[in-house]
Amino acid sequence: MADRLRALGYDVRTGVGKTGVVALKGGTGRCVMLRADMDALPIEEANDVAYRSQHAGKMHACGHDGHVAMGLEVARRLAGVDLPGAVKLAFQPAEEISFGADAMIRDGVLDRPSVDAAFGIHLWNDLPTGRIGLMPGPVMASVDEFEIAILGTGGHAAAPHQTTDPVLAAAHVVTGLQSLVSRRRNPFEEGVVSVTQVTAGHAFNVIPGRADLRGTVRSFGGKFYEQAPALVEETAQGIAGAFGARAEVRYRRLCQPTVNDERMTDLMKGVAEEIVGKERVVHGVRTMGGEDMSLFLARIPGAFAFVGSAPPGAKASPHHSPTFDIDEEALVIGADLLARTAVRYLQSG
Ligand code: NI
Repeated sequence: MADRLRALGYDVRTGVGKTGVVALKGGTGRCVMLRADMDALPIEEANDVAYRSQHAGKMHACGHDGHVAMGLEVARRLAGVDLPGAVKLAFQPAEEISFGADAMIRDGVLDRPSVDAAFGIHLWNDLPTGRIGLMPGPVMASVDEFEIAILGTGGHAAAPHQTTDPVLAAAHVVTGLQSLVSRRRNPFEEGVVSVTQVTAGHAFNVIPGRADLRGTVRSFGGKFYEQAPALVEETAQGIAGAFGARAEVRYRRLCQPTVNDERMTDLMKGVAEEIVGKERVVHGVRTMGGEDMSLFLARIPGAFAFVGSAPPGAKASPHHSPTFDIDEEALVIGADLLARTAVRYLQSG
């Protein structure tokens, strides 16, 4: 990839955020960054196609390979264009584990020259090819992770009164956490709490001394986002305490909500409407999934669009599934959208 970008005349830096690649063209005037994430997922591909994954247990089940293809096509298209500013292409690793954007920022992707606007897209199988989802404000959720250890005292399954059963307490904590969304959150604020891992015990006749829960909280910001760490802790400790057990809570913010800037969204929307037609640019496409593009958009005004990639008339496999695939016509639209948005931004104001 780096060689191809160099051959196109770009100034290329590798190893940005470990394995990220940054390609720069032009140096004076304003600088627009286009971001393409490039990582895969630990899923065994079930598609029987010529271009299936060649790595056992790993596949591009979210379309990030398409993002790279589009990024390279954008590079090719802009290579010969005289631009009134700089274009920085950021090929970012480790989006799926919310690590790559942060690592690239630490390695200076937003500096030298400093970035004035940032745009990105995601191929989107929930939309047919030819449609683009774009709106101002939050479009992807924050991603928080919690781990809760319920500590009791183990013993014989036949003598529960001699123990403090962490399994029963954990079961109530799982149920109790559901009340955060239904009773502690303003219903006008979006929010999800999912407990996704429950681990305890080794034998059918032994009450263990500890039970572990793990899960995630998602939101579009606001009060629920602010309060979530305290609410999870309070719920876990209060319920565990009521059972005579104790809870230790570890709460981590992985990434904040992805928030589109109003002006930048307008600019990108104008381009999107030229490409697919006004009635095919869809308002209201949002997801409680996370995106570490959020880290760039928290620092730099910009926008993130969903480029429809479901073959028209067919049912597309969902993202992160072993049969995920895209309609490659979407790549043409996505590359067009990014390239023209960058040019439009540099020509504006
Ligand atoms: Ni993705």
